[in-house]
Amino acid sequence: MRGITGWRVPGDVALRGGVALRAALTIVVTLLAGSVASHAAAQTKPQTKPQTKPQAPANPRPGSAAPAVPTPEQDRAALTNLLQKRFPALAIDDWSLGSAAFSPGVAVIPLGGANATNVNDILAIGKKAWERPFANGKSLATCFPNGGRRVASNYPQWDPQQNRVVTLEDGINACRVLHGELPFRLDDGLTMGAVSAYLRSLAVGQKLNVRVPPGPARTAYASGREWFGKRLGEKGMACASCHVLQAGGFWDEPDAPGGKRGLSPAVGQVLAWPRVEAGGRVRSLHQQFQRCMTRTGAEPFASGSPIFAEIEYFLANSSNGLTIRGAIPAH
Ligand code: HEC
Repeated sequence: MRGITGWRVPGDVALRGGVALRAALTIVVTLLAGSVASHAAAQTKPQTKPQTKPQAPANPRPGSAAPAVPTPEQDRAALTNLLQKRFPALAIDDWSLGSAAFSPGVAVIPLGGANATNVNDILAIGKKAWERPFANGKSLATCFPNGGRRVASNYPQWDPQQNRVVTLEDGINACRVLHGELPFRLDDGLTMGAVSAYLRSLAVGQKLNVRVPPGPARTAYASGREWFGKRLGEKGMACASCHVLQAGGFWDEPDAPGGKRGLSPAVGQVLAWPRVEAGGRVRSLHQQFQRCMTRTGAEPFASGSPIFAEIEYFLANSSNGLTIRGAIPAH
């Protein structure tokens, strides 16, 4: 495993100056509380430190005389509030530019250049596949309301029939299968990557509007939230370690421009997808999750796995009301 230097995350309290420590810790305690619970250990690589028997979680599951669980709306407000104290000068709607907005020496809004051309090429490929008739004469464009316009602003969503969270990519594949076509492979940039980029482009400028209704959807949301705060891999780091506690800071990585990558806040992270890498390779949101899990030393979950869909659901709720940007170049 490549050594990562420059950061100490002992007990995840290495907060930077000017932070409202008490507010931060409240959220962190809730976010990281899930790290001792449930089936995490079975799903992640063995930790380097011997595991002590889990104590009673600080935030027990609903049903076990639990303290009141915050609603998804309250969650979002609290998280946004906390993070906003870190970067008072940066408009919340610009947080969705991701790492680039927080990296030293990287232009915040990438204009022109080879990567922008790549984004346009990917969109053009996606549009063709979107309109191409299936064997039965239907097409992806006929499956979605309004030919797909604004659709991406409501994904991911809870599907009561399937009793699970479905992503935009799941929606695309459901349409194909309904019409007798094979599903796209989730990690194939030139089919699913391009089509999802195009479908998202039809919602650019819209506000994300993901619903987490009471009932089983809340359980899926809570699971995604818990996973976001769960310590993973050899380093025992959670998504929240980097994207809440260290958000606005940097992560040292030899192959990054300037040797550092900015750490974006959890709020805003789902709005600019997919990313198009130099050379035109498409990186989906779930491939980004995998890239990040590798950083913790954990074995990444599969694209499209229920856990990733639930993490995406949690992140999407956290970004509700912010502007969808669609595909942007990766840095
Ligand atoms: C060790 C620190 C670290 C951890 C832990 C981590 N990430 Fe990241 N994450 C990064 C860095 C650095 C980037 C910048 C983009 C890149 O190079 O991958 C990033 C980028 C992202 C992005 C894209 C937005 C952007 O900044 O461009 C998402 C979404 C994301 N991470 C989600 C997650 C999730 C979900 C987890 C938990 C499974 C996680 N991350 C865990 C370091 C981390």
